[in-house]
Amino acid sequence: MNILLAGGAGYIGSHTAVSLLDAGHDVIIADNFANSSPVAVERVREVSGKPVTCYRADVCDKAAMERIFQENNIDCIVHFAALKGVGESVEIPVAYYRNNIDTTLTLLECMAKFGVRNMVFSSSATVYGDENPIPYAETMRRGSSSHPYGWTKIFMEQIFEDAAKADPNLSVVLLRYFNPIGAHPSGRMGEDPRGVPNNLMPYISQVAVGRREKLTVFGGDYPTPDGTCRRDYLHVMDLAEGHLEAVEYAAAHKGAEAFNLGTGTPYSVLEIIRAFETATGVSIPYAIGDRRAGDLPEFWADASKAERVLCWTAKRDLTEMCRDTWNWQSHNPKGYEE
Ligand code: UFG
Repeated sequence: MNILLAGGAGYIGSHTAVSLLDAGHDVIIADNFANSSPVAVERVREVSGKPVTCYRADVCDKAAMERIFQENNIDCIVHFAALKGVGESVEIPVAYYRNNIDTTLTLLECMAKFGVRNMVFSSSATVYGDENPIPYAETMRRGSSSHPYGWTKIFMEQIFEDAAKADPNLSVVLLRYFNPIGAHPSGRMGEDPRGVPNNLMPYISQVAVGRREKLTVFGGDYPTPDGTCRRDYLHVMDLAEGHLEAVEYAAAHKGAEAFNLGTGTPYSVLEIIRAFETATGVSIPYAIGDRRAGDLPEFWADASKAERVLCWTAKRDLTEMCRDTWNWQSHNPKGYEE
């Protein structure tokens, strides 16, 4: 299949590109590089040994996107083109709604115009909100969010469901990611956040490589076994392979359907620090600080639907997640900027 990765130069998009290319698909990337690097696309070509067509284009730009649809016979889209900072979304909510909703509507309009029927959407566990019991299952209703980023994911899922209801030819797979970490095992691709990392694993790996002095653990008094928050971390290559299954599922089905992509096993912040130290031999100085606004004590996936329906399960364990993160970070201390 010819697969358009909208926002495909980012962390999850670039790893997904490699999985799709390895499986024999052709990949077209459209990215404005607002939070990603063209070097990542070079690395996708290098690691896969395959050509990749890449456009520097804002997915909100309808004329630019129509040109891409015109020039390529696209069978399926994977939509990663979104702003993703929880804290930043509270500061500039309008920019988040404008970008995330606009990219989605532009892609849906292009799909209608060019007769493209299959879409895989990069959603998040955040759509479960804080009202649902854990583990989260796809049978639960979407919750409400404490931040605009989360609302954009909730709204985007709703938009896709409405579009699929109205057009019986449309097929949309909503992939609800839990916490992706790790990197491609080659050490040539990984997560490269701009500025101070918001997420735990990139912060740990930047402490390990000497870019940051110490980690602050956000809260040590949660109602969890060791007082720190628990999350469902999964290897980014497992997540990437989930997209491969989703693309194939979308091609064979109609309507909108959601799947959790997680391992089903939670780890606490302290367990992640210890696992990283054991896997790499590098010690991570840390201090327990205040809770971060909006963090839930714990959540993890009921991962049984993806296993039953997509035949997908996460295969890589926490040691591998830590080892691959370190392999990437230690060989690329400044990320894609050499
Ligand atoms: N954490 C720290 N110190 C840090 C960074 C994170 O202790 O410097 C802790 C957090 O408090 C949390 C855990 O590490 O307990 C994981 O935090 P991340 O920021 O890595 O991940 P989150 O679970 O907060 O974020 C995820 C997704 C978002 C999504 C959000 C919903 O990355 O896309 O869940 O709450 F919106």
